[in-house]
Amino acid sequence: MDLFEHQAKELFAEYGVPVPQGNVARTPEEARAIAEGFAAAGHPRVVVKAQVKTGGRGKAGGVKVAEGPDEAQSRARDILGMDIKGHTVHAVLVERASDIAQEFYLSYLLDRAARNFLSICSVEGGMEIEEVARDHPEAVAQIPIDPLTGVDMALATQIVTAGHLPARAIEGAATLAERLWAVFTDEDATLVEVNPLILTTDGRVVALDGKVTLDDNAAFRQEHARFADPGSADPLEARARAKHLNYVKLDGEVGIIGNGAGLVMSTLDVVAQAGAEFGGIRPANFLDIGGGASAEVMANGLEIVLSDPSVRSVLVNVFGGITSCDAVANGIVTAVGMLEERGEKVTRPLVVRLDGNNADEGRRILREAGLTVVEQVATMDDAARRAAELAAAANLAQPVTGA
Ligand SMILES: Nc1ncnc2c1ncn2[C@@H]1O[C@H](COP(=O)(O)OP(=O)(O)OP(=O)(O)O)[C@@H](O)[C@H]1O
Ligand SMILES: [Mg+2]
Repeated sequence: MDLFEHQAKELFAEYGVPVPQGNVARTPEEARAIAEGFAAAGHPRVVVKAQVKTGGRGKAGGVKVAEGPDEAQSRARDILGMDIKGHTVHAVLVERASDIAQEFYLSYLLDRAARNFLSICSVEGGMEIEEVARDHPEAVAQIPIDPLTGVDMALATQIVTAGHLPARAIEGAATLAERLWAVFTDEDATLVEVNPLILTTDGRVVALDGKVTLDDNAAFRQEHARFADPGSADPLEARARAKHLNYVKLDGEVGIIGNGAGLVMSTLDVVAQAGAEFGGIRPANFLDIGGGASAEVMANGLEIVLSDPSVRSVLVNVFGGITSCDAVANGIVTAVGMLEERGEKVTRPLVVRLDGNNADEGRRILREAGLTVVEQVATMDDAARRAAELAAAANLAQPVTGA
């Protein structure tokens, strides 16, 4: 899970990483009120910053200085509702403006290739670190971190010195780097990036921006639910997650259900390939129902897939392994019945391909159940073709209106 800048800064503050004072506003009036607070305390200059989970906000016009409450309100009016790389701005952070002497870069990340943690530090901050690394590699220090010993003050000092930070920033930056490591490990982050890290004209080192990615695999031992952003999640994906299903929404018309991530991935490929012949029919989702696909899991899966209004046909592609095909076939029959009982009668065609362990028995069960919506196809390629063909035919009969 990625955090918004204001959430990252809340975390930083909890760990004693210095950040500018600020507050979140969802309307221009709220932005004004926050700026009035700063003005009353003798700091009329504020910065209004778009809160979106993507980089390059400044370049897109999403970061603006305001010389007081009036300007803060109008800058917030400009920025709220803006689209930055496909992200709509729903909130702005209104911060007290810092007097910047110099901008640096500091981050910790999981270096997957090296199977280790890495620190990156540079005296060249404020711009994209990839550019700095390309144009001035000598200005970028990359120091691996031993996860067992972490970052103490000595290593933190080494990191910021290697990044060529100026002498008067070393102590403040090292203290900040040591605290930032605590954020990284204690919160189970895979990325903590501060760009820019600044030296103020009065000699303090402050995190002026914050980008944090938390490791969802560690969510069980963290209290990160407070950072969840239900408004931005795909509603179908959220429902699927609540049912413990591995579902990813895509843009096409053929619903996909399979067992095993590898099989589902290749099913997406063959559907996309077959769909090209039928005017660009594509897979509508990824759904892996895993090994022990019980009737209930199948019913939940079908329900989610069929809740997507753009789905015109469904391809169930199962290779029986530990779960044998007769169990899967019974699952499909029961699932269709369960959905009907829930008042969600299945009317869109299900193309089913069963192979592997006990496939003959599975096919017999499906055949004898006599479900009119189910059509069995023997091979994966033919099943993908048929599902694409049915989706194309349904599209012709009743084109999707941009629902
Ligand atoms: N509180 C602040 N006071 C003074 N200047 C600020 C403040 N916040 C941001 N700035 C200025 O705006 C620039 C851009 O800010 P920031 O790094 O937060 O956004 P960005 O780099 O455009 O966004 P992203 O990191 O998402 O690409 C900073 O480099 C800094 O010069
Ligand atoms: Mg930045």
